Amino acid sequence: MGEDVYRFKRGDSSHRLHRSEDVNFLLDQSQTPLFSALREHAMRRPLQFHIPGHKTGLAMDPEFREFMGERALSIDLINIGPLDDLHHPTGIIDQAQKLAAQAFGADYTFFSVQGTSGAIMAMIMSVVGPGDEILVPRNIHTSVLSAIILSGARPFFLQPEVDLRLGIAHGVRVESVAEGLKRHPNVKAVLLINPTYFGVATDLRSIVKLAHDRGVVVLVDEAHGVHTHFHEQLPPSAMQAGCDLAATSVHKLGGSLTQSSVLNVKEGLVRARHVHSILSLLTTTSTSYILLASLDAARRQLATRGHELLDRAIAMAQSARRRLNEIPGIYCFGEEILASSATFALDPLKLTIRVAEIGLSGYEVEVILREKYNIEVELSDLYNVLCVISFGDTEENIAALISAIAEIANRELLQHHHKIQIVVPSTPVLAMSPREAFYAETEVVQLRDAIGRIIADVIKVYPPGIPILLPGEIVTADNVEFIEENLRAGLPVQGPDDPTIETVRVVKER
Ligand SMILES: Cc1ncc(COP(=O)(O)O)c(C=O)c1O
Repeated sequence: MGEDVYRFKRGDSSHRLHRSEDVNFLLDQSQTPLFSALREHAMRRPLQFHIPGHKTGLAMDPEFREFMGERALSIDLINIGPLDDLHHPTGIIDQAQKLAAQAFGADYTFFSVQGTSGAIMAMIMSVVGPGDEILVPRNIHTSVLSAIILSGARPFFLQPEVDLRLGIAHGVRVESVAEGLKRHPNVKAVLLINPTYFGVATDLRSIVKLAHDRGVVVLVDEAHGVHTHFHEQLPPSAMQAGCDLAATSVHKLGGSLTQSSVLNVKEGLVRARHVHSILSLLTTTSTSYILLASLDAARRQLATRGHELLDRAIAMAQSARRRLNEIPGIYCFGEEILASSATFALDPLKLTIRVAEIGLSGYEVEVILREKYNIEVELSDLYNVLCVISFGDTEENIAALISAIAEIANRELLQHHHKIQIVVPSTPVLAMSPREAFYAETEVVQLRDAIGRIIADVIKVYPPGIPILLPGEIVTADNVEFIEENLRAGLPVQGPDDPTIETVRVVKER
């Protein structure tokens, strides 16, 4: 299997990592070497004396088995000989990763079965170690924080552009990165989030130039941008912009199963072999073949039909945006907000629907949509709800969403006449590295008594998982009020050992 898909050049050792461009002429994007081999293996029905012990579902709870279906369970396999090994790929996984690298414009692509969170940790830990300096935006996902704590790197924060009309953060300005690099000349890497959860992209190419001129590695949290590579109306992908590493959630908008992501590598400032060994260090040995096969199939779809599918999704999302903006009290931003290098390009598939003017919080609208209309959104915050459009949507789905939002808005505007004021909390000061605070001697105090103290917990609303407070930051009254407001609104505030957030851990004062 795989011979017709991909043949090694004569004399090559199949144990070598190949750049995708070395082998481009041999690749056929319509093939799925991993998925096809897995399916053929399952169809041969070998007697299985290996784990998983459910043995194609036979040893499983019958109700669950029936629900999951025979086919899915037949490919829930592990790294037996014919199926290659994600930790040391030389066969079908290697072929699938090379096809992915070509499709994503990378030199190398490594599959992650631990989501983009796992890929982000590997990406960061492959370029910074204890004491190394890294520039990161303050609105990082918690996986970036995990990597900072685990690696012992010293983060310097870049302030993202905060949008006071929406109460959300966008990208970082090129000038902020330039200033950060000037102030911290020993920085080894800069990390960017591109595009943001809300679909706003930074001027990546200018930042890459700035960083590379100084030999600084550019890392991208591309959790929300897998599709951008496949359509010219979307912001450039990290690989198109020349970034060194990008952790990309194929599962979010690329059509693979939840938890499957890729880590894309451009060699030069980083070594693919090293990146792979760090990813391997952080990855389970029981890699799910259902997830891996779904990455292979999603790559085929993106590479062969992505443009056509995205054409339709973009048109539907743009039309939805226009119709949402016709509803009194509702605002769904579009390209009119693009005004700086921090708001440089837009992914139209994200519909951030501001509901503050109808007098309801985003969370209240999320709950009404769920309970009254059977509609689930991606996330809500105090002021907005976020809806994600993909090529799985239809005109009918979108019409149902718009009509529900219109009904809610009309009813609310008749009943209330108050707008919710948008308040953005100040950014706390980092007094100690997140790792020092995380491992420091701590004590538990009431949330309000934490004001003025150094927090040892991370406190975030999930989703989106961006910390309100990071370990090492000095808690302000402003932060506490923001946490309380999110709790009152019913939003999922998480992080501390105490799930009610009545108490938090702070660093003990000497
Ligand atoms: C900005 C950002 N980065 C990283 C992640 C983590 O991605 P994953 O869920 O694939 O681990 C998320 C998840 O929502 C995210 O929003």
